[in-house]
Amino acid sequence: MITEESVREVIDSARVEDVVGDFVNLRRRGNNYSGLCPFHNEKTPSFNVNPARNIYKCFGCGVGGDPVKFLMELEQLSFPDAIRWIARKYNIKLEETEVSEEVRAELQERDSLLIANDFARKYYAEQLLDTDEGKSIALSYFRARGFRKEAIETFGLGYAPNQRDGLLQAATAAGFGEDQLEKLGLVRNGRDFFRDRVMFTIHNLAGKPIAFAGRILKKDVKAPKYINSPETEVYHKSDVLYGMYQARQAVRKLDNIFMVEGYTDVISLYQSGIRNVVATSGTSLTAGQAKLVKRFTENVTLLYDGDKAGVKAALRGVDVLLSADLNVRVVVLPEGKDPDGYMQEVGVTVFEQYLTDARKDFLFFKADILLEEAGDDVAARSAAIRDISSTLALVTDPLKRAGYLQQFSAKLGIDESLLVGLVNGAIADHRSERKKAAEREQRRQARSSGGTSAPPPPTSEDDWGGLSEPAWLDTSSDDPGPVAAGGAPPPVAGSPAAEPRQPEIGHGHQEQHFVHLLVRDGHKWYDEPTKTTIAGFLTANVADLLGDFDVATYREAVEQVTDHLRSTGGAPDPDWYTRHADERIRQLATEAVTSPYTYSPNWQEKYGLRLSQKMPDENQRLAAELFLRIFRMEKIERKGKENTLLIARYQREGNFEKLKTHMKVQMKLDEMRISLAKELGTVVLSR
Ligand code: GTP
Ligand code: MN
Repeated sequence: MITEESVREVIDSARVEDVVGDFVNLRRRGNNYSGLCPFHNEKTPSFNVNPARNIYKCFGCGVGGDPVKFLMELEQLSFPDAIRWIARKYNIKLEETEVSEEVRAELQERDSLLIANDFARKYYAEQLLDTDEGKSIALSYFRARGFRKEAIETFGLGYAPNQRDGLLQAATAAGFGEDQLEKLGLVRNGRDFFRDRVMFTIHNLAGKPIAFAGRILKKDVKAPKYINSPETEVYHKSDVLYGMYQARQAVRKLDNIFMVEGYTDVISLYQSGIRNVVATSGTSLTAGQAKLVKRFTENVTLLYDGDKAGVKAALRGVDVLLSADLNVRVVVLPEGKDPDGYMQEVGVTVFEQYLTDARKDFLFFKADILLEEAGDDVAARSAAIRDISSTLALVTDPLKRAGYLQQFSAKLGIDESLLVGLVNGAIADHRSERKKAAEREQRRQARSSGGTSAPPPPTSEDDWGGLSEPAWLDTSSDDPGPVAAGGAPPPVAGSPAAEPRQPEIGHGHQEQHFVHLLVRDGHKWYDEPTKTTIAGFLTANVADLLGDFDVATYREAVEQVTDHLRSTGGAPDPDWYTRHADERIRQLATEAVTSPYTYSPNWQEKYGLRLSQKMPDENQRLAAELFLRIFRMEKIERKGKENTLLIARYQREGNFEKLKTHMKVQMKLDEMRISLAKELGTVVLSR
């Protein structure tokens, strides 16, 4: 452990402009700096660095903090690792307290294995670049495939010569033990494991080599095309995606990740400027890989070869992504092309256009394929519908699920309630399978708990073809339970979901803005022909949500205005507020005219709207509409979240009466969210 003093010293030395400056191109602006935000995609800089306060802040997406937080979020480092990073940068010697003998031994073992692996990487690189054999056989091969110098370095490409023990000799001469090389799978029975192959380095998130893959160069031999390092103490296959280290920043920035099958596809796309790309290496995706992706983005686009195998591959292993609540889309390349080949053929512009045009939501993609395969065959068709329902059951987000249900019932031409039944059946199946798997796992652990904790035995030379476990075996993801069938939705206002709630700062803020809008513009016309004022429009449209206001003053203000409208038929003008008997309302009136009217940057990001910072005066009507929709959306979203918690609880308790009510509430809320989302998609506020 790093001592507290050391941590303090590091924190005191870290200059935000230095640390951020290592990742972002900063320009001076007065006393501050600005640049393009590394956390979201933007064309004009809204990312600001304030050296005086030693903080950064993005006015586009709202992120902000000190240098340590910057590193933790951008590089996904733990706190101690962020401290180490800064210490290295400033050459600060860290004092670390004693760790247990056991832990230290383990850390040292890991470190020394990583160092040995790095030696191997260098060895393969030298063989590639500095030997005649490497140059003529391997470098020429990479060149012929269009890989340039930069990519060869970035991806740690190399060459393992056709020698019995070249690496073993070099490594032992450099002081590494044969046992280390064996542990890493680099050497077996006194011979190099990788021979006569071009080499691809697999990195961890810190950029350290943890494993290798070797591709054969000769054609027409029986040996497998690729061989890989076995599972080792430093390489847990199921938690690694090839290229994640190189892709991570682009993934976060573009908020999307492309997944391809092959190593060469990654390199080719990266080289052409598509940097948010990783490879699954041809095997099924695992829950660990889904989790890894989720640290950087929720949006996955699978990119597959345009052949039968590619399409089949696209269908398998996706469950694991859906279970992790990732949004999955699929692009199938033109017949007979793989990403690498297609990119080399058409270039990046056409390639990217193709990605945009051919991209399909995964569930629709799957449905199309299965239904097309089934044709008119009744049995095959119903099997397909079951299969689709089973996949649909993995989508846990209630809004997404409701949207899919609606669209699929139309697409499949079956009643929505029937589909709901199928999905519920599938949810139950998944659950019992998860339970069984958990029990199996428990038994397995019980059996092995007496044994040693030796690293897993190396796998066979080539594990190609071995599929990993299905996705939903991961018991950690908890779905909110069955979906509700249709039925008369009860009114949302005053729903029984009213449990004591912690006031939320964000919501209080939004309510304040709502009231400010009411005070400032309430007396103006929303629609003159029908004699509707902005106040009339606003109050009528939040009446059902008043119970969900967090701040009593704001709720009461809205109620008072509603009363005024009802009794006089007109909206109160600004004077009414400033002369009000209630001091809090007078206070609101002053606030409303003095505080500049801005939207939360959060909203801009979340709803993808281009809003000017100031409310444009000539556009009160549009502004009020837009504001109201977002305001309602926020409230309804929160209500929905609370309601799912209640559903889960009543399900646990077996309280079916309440369960039924709350499921209906959920349906209603989802409907409201869907229609609001549609409306929001169409509203554009002119400047
Ligand atoms: P090139 O043929 O050099 O373009 O490589 P590729 O990556 O395009 O190969 P391919 O499309 O045939 O396979 C895709 C991925 O599946 C590879 O990158 C490997 O990760 C994996 N793969 C293919 N063949 C084998 C094999 O024989 N053994 C193992 N372990 N993996 C393989
Ligand atoms: Mn290929």
